[in-house]
Amino acid sequence: MATIYKGNILFTKTQHQFEIIENGYIVVEDGKVVQVYTTLPTAYQHAELIDYSGKLIIPGMNDMHVHAPQFRNLGIAMDMELLPWLQNYTFPEEMKYADVNYADKMYRRFIKSIWKVGTTRTVAFGTVHKQSTAHLMKLMHAAGLGGMIGKVNMNRNCPDGLCETVEDAIADAQELIDVWDKEDNLVRPILTPRFIPSCTPEMLKALGDFAMSNNLKVQSHLSENKGEIAWVKELEPESTCYGDAYNRYNLFGQTPTLMAHCCYTEGEELELMNKNQVFVVHCPTSNCNLGSGKSPIRNFLDKNIPVALGSDVSGGHDLSIFKVMVYAIQVSKLWYANSDKKMPFLTLPEVFYMATKSGGSFFGKVGSFEPGYEFDALVIDDTELNHDNYTLLERLERFIYIGDDRQIEHRYVRGKRIDEPTFENV
Ligand code: GUN
Ligand code: FE
Repeated sequence: MATIYKGNILFTKTQHQFEIIENGYIVVEDGKVVQVYTTLPTAYQHAELIDYSGKLIIPGMNDMHVHAPQFRNLGIAMDMELLPWLQNYTFPEEMKYADVNYADKMYRRFIKSIWKVGTTRTVAFGTVHKQSTAHLMKLMHAAGLGGMIGKVNMNRNCPDGLCETVEDAIADAQELIDVWDKEDNLVRPILTPRFIPSCTPEMLKALGDFAMSNNLKVQSHLSENKGEIAWVKELEPESTCYGDAYNRYNLFGQTPTLMAHCCYTEGEELELMNKNQVFVVHCPTSNCNLGSGKSPIRNFLDKNIPVALGSDVSGGHDLSIFKVMVYAIQVSKLWYANSDKKMPFLTLPEVFYMATKSGGSFFGKVGSFEPGYEFDALVIDDTELNHDNYTLLERLERFIYIGDDRQIEHRYVRGKRIDEPTFENV
């Protein structure tokens, strides 16, 4: 049974331009887009039509890097760089997640908030705690939102309360994939070594082997901060670059891999990311707040390295991927100015593509309205912002720059309307 959605349709097939269909129709069947039309074929005349005439229909947002257990620290603790920030603010908060009741309370708030800002798929770090992380997956599933959730792995340079053994890490990972790693699951696990300083060589080897033998995706942090990079050089002296420290353990694109930040990636690391098609997850709000640096996104695009966007809460202070798009453009304009205009700044279709089809490709056919794509969508009622006959593209740009969740009227994931989570039966 097809369902037809009518409205002003905007999406990006490529990073170069928007597809814009004024008062068009999206035909959806079994949660997937069949086709987008300017006039509805007669074959669909009697199908159910949901009329969002005058409103904007765009793909849902993919937040490809966020720390769910850092939600309490959102908007505070911005006075330190990465390494002391982790020790003083982040690890103490994450230790609280040994208590599943605390995790339950906070993860419900977190999920309601990502729902609110229009994020339909999320790749999140949990904590080292298996039970709380499994609970986060249950809550995401109950909310009907999609994503990948990582139980964090760490066994060095962390407080006792966040330290695990290699044996426990592998046993826990096995348990989580046995329950959650099913082909059609909207919520799936992802292997999550925190970063090189948190994992001994034994841990990295065990995780790489585990990822390879279970074809499990991987996420971590890369080249975020200069002090961190120098520390990795000390810890892994044989590695030729930070990326190589992951690569030698099969944690760098041997299975699909997301690496957050990449502020200082160049040379060999850039080549390796290109060769292994490792995703850069650009987190510009976090990079500003932690004083980490500015990631040279244009270089990654020039090399055909896939780029997605992440809020990186609570290094980042805003869960809205729309706001992350704006920061991505602004940071790229600092590159532009500081390079004597040699490095072109990012355009609106480029950052929109990162947030939708590029990030979405990590999940499969997600993030576009082309045939066969899962229907993840937002319905935007921008009446309040559209007071002067703006074009459709201007309306979208205004919503991205100056809009907020008040204009998001509905969210869809895989063709299902997702209302505010109530977490029934959890
Ligand atoms: N590197 C290792 N852990 C973290 C974290 O929690 N946040 C950020 N931004 N970087 C990290
Ligand atoms: Fe992070």
